Amino acid sequence: MSALKIAVIPGDGIGTEVMPEGIRVLEAAGKKHGVDFEWSFFDWSCEHYAKHGAMMPDDGIEQLRAFDAIYLGAVGFPGVADHVSLWGLLIPIRREFDQYINLRPVRLFEGIPCPLVGRKPGDIDFMVVRENVEGEYSAIGGIQYEGTEEEVVIQQSVFTRRGVDRVLRYAYELAQSRPEKHLSSATKSNGIIHSMPYWDSRVAAVGVKYPEVKVDQYHIDILTANFVRMPDHFDVVVGSNLFGDILSDLGPACTGTIAIAPSANINPERTGPSMFEPVHGSAPDIAGKGIANPIGMIWSGAMMLDHLGRSDVHDSIMKSIEQVLKEGSCLTPDMQGSATTEELGKAIAEAI
Ligand code: NAD
Ligand code: IPM
Ligand code: MN
Repeated sequence: MSALKIAVIPGDGIGTEVMPEGIRVLEAAGKKHGVDFEWSFFDWSCEHYAKHGAMMPDDGIEQLRAFDAIYLGAVGFPGVADHVSLWGLLIPIRREFDQYINLRPVRLFEGIPCPLVGRKPGDIDFMVVRENVEGEYSAIGGIQYEGTEEEVVIQQSVFTRRGVDRVLRYAYELAQSRPEKHLSSATKSNGIIHSMPYWDSRVAAVGVKYPEVKVDQYHIDILTANFVRMPDHFDVVVGSNLFGDILSDLGPACTGTIAIAPSANINPERTGPSMFEPVHGSAPDIAGKGIANPIGMIWSGAMMLDHLGRSDVHDSIMKSIEQVLKEGSCLTPDMQGSATTEELGKAIAEAI
């Protein structure tokens, strides 16, 4: 097998601290399983913005197109407005490569203190499938009558039939492939929101082809409560761009720390590269201290290898994460330990 060509964008803040650990673990797992990597580094970030007035060069998307996958740390840092940094780098990558699925697993591991009383590993193990290129994250809208008493800001949500149906199909397929065959849909069709009754109608229509899948739906308000009250109920949870974003921080928080959560921004048709990044951001409050938890980054790397056809490498990385967490002697502060980013990354790489 020729080397996998990976575009690496460490980005901002702790993105630059967890990325070396992700690469360290992938190198160790690759060595064991006969996978070579060719890493190409891109310094696109808020620092790049300060120097060049843009988060990435004009032809940035074209530079990424030929890679097998994109491995990204985090984007955004005080000094550059978030809507500028994110719409200048992260969001265009998701959209230009039609990464319309954002897959975000949630799992309670042995060894991480769980904030929910009485929950044990195995009780929390589900997948959030987030629509990733449309919905509430639309570029349509803006401010009018700026600076006057009439000032108004309008934001349009965009839900296309093609966009809704394809994320629902993916979620149904995923649910069908799992033992519980259970899909929960995040909605808010009791509010004055045109998009959500439509979303519900497509859940029903697309579901006709998946009679084995048990479906339920919850309004987003009670759904957040149910993540806390009965996390064992969930198997696959599908949501719009904004609902999926919120649920995919809440889910991992219920397992002890958001910092272990990975994500795969997938283009299922493979008409462009997919992107793998932790769910968390650049964490300016702890950046530079060397204490960020690298597991979200490392697990995202495992998902990248799974996507590239190497489930053996994925499984090997996951086993090492499980082993190190279970041993419990090398946890970062967000998991009530005192290990550094590098110590935890090295421990997982050694466990491979
Ligand atoms: P954040 O995820 O960066 O931080 C939230 C909290 O979680 C902070 O207290 C932080 O210290 C903690 N945390 C996050 N990751 C951690 C890790 N690996 N180890 C230990 N603790 C960790 O979210 P935020 O504060 O809302 O956003 C900060 C910046 O990151 C903003 O500019 C935001 O837009 C950006 N952001 C980027 C992404 C991305 O690139 N995908 C995702 C979320 C936020
Ligand atoms: C995430 C992040 C991003 C999102 C932000 C930074 C634009 O929160 O990946 O979850 O909302 O998609
Ligand atoms: Mn988010």
